[in-house]
Amino acid sequence: MNSITLARPDDWHLHLRDGDALASALPHSARRFARAIVMPNLKPPVTSVEAARAYRSRITAALAAAIASGELPAGARFEPLMTLYLTDRTSPREIALAKSSGFVHAVKYYPAGATTHSEAGVSALEHALPALEAMQRHDLPLLIHGEVTDPAVDVFDRERVCVETLVAHIVERFPDLRVVLEHASTREAVAFVAAARPRVAATLTAHHLLYNRGALFQGGLRPHYYCLPVLKREPHRRALVAAATGGSPRFFLGTDSAPHPRGLKENACGCAGCFTAHAALELYAEAFDAAGALERLEGFASHHGPDFYGLPRNKDTVTLVRERWAAPDELPFGGETLVPLRSAEDLLWRMV
Ligand code: DOR
Ligand code: ZN
Repeated sequence: MNSITLARPDDWHLHLRDGDALASALPHSARRFARAIVMPNLKPPVTSVEAARAYRSRITAALAAAIASGELPAGARFEPLMTLYLTDRTSPREIALAKSSGFVHAVKYYPAGATTHSEAGVSALEHALPALEAMQRHDLPLLIHGEVTDPAVDVFDRERVCVETLVAHIVERFPDLRVVLEHASTREAVAFVAAARPRVAATLTAHHLLYNRGALFQGGLRPHYYCLPVLKREPHRRALVAAATGGSPRFFLGTDSAPHPRGLKENACGCAGCFTAHAALELYAEAFDAAGALERLEGFASHHGPDFYGLPRNKDTVTLVRERWAAPDELPFGGETLVPLRSAEDLLWRMV
């Protein structure tokens, strides 16, 4: 197969940032995806429906500006699906408001300290119980960054331990709650999701499907491959590929594209996050092609996500062709630049 056409996909996990950075990041996603679940880990975090409403209008303004400047074609459409950032103090009332807003589609659980801008996250599950109960009642999905923060737990084990403890506990305690384990990176995580009760799913990133932890140390320290959850050993990567290409509706596309300026990545204490939005679909196509499973890409990228979220599938299509191209070495990012994933190496699929 040298060409593949699929229903337009959506990105069920995306970091768009804010301000000038948002203006730079947004067009890459809007060219490929119809909708995206937008992560709320701004500074300050998006903890209220009012803050989500304001952020949403900044995103739609950035979209209009990109169209006006010719960066995106006239008529380009992209719908930001907003999320709230769960804290120790998120009230059941805020959850009810979120549900009735029509534009907040999920709530994100960051264990406090687990990753970038997660300091305001949940310090202990007990504090979040009233909000979780309200989410179950209003049928608002919970998105979990599944890593424990205990420094005694090895960084490569943090997801597995979180799945065995926090995630398993939430799934059992709230039997009707829709739960997405975000950016699953281990075989234990995908095995858990595959065997879980209904209404439990996981997103998978392109970088976790394409790389194992060796990429972090290939000939030297490679900060642009550093993200959280960190890349794992090869058997884990293979388990993720098997989950993504297996046809199960529990697994769907979520890039976790997370831009940081070059200087904060190439740094003595570099930030976590891989920017993949410039070639997101192309990278997934490469991973599915390598597994001999291109015919499964459409379900993963375009059907399973909207089905889980109870939204209509997109009606238009996108086409990818097998064709080498080189991504730029760097891209503008607000007043700075960022280094996209795979900048040093050709991509194998191109979107037409
Ligand atoms: O690598 C990551 N980057 N993981 C996250 O969970 C957050 C993200 C970010 O916001 O930069
Ligand atoms: Zn993320």
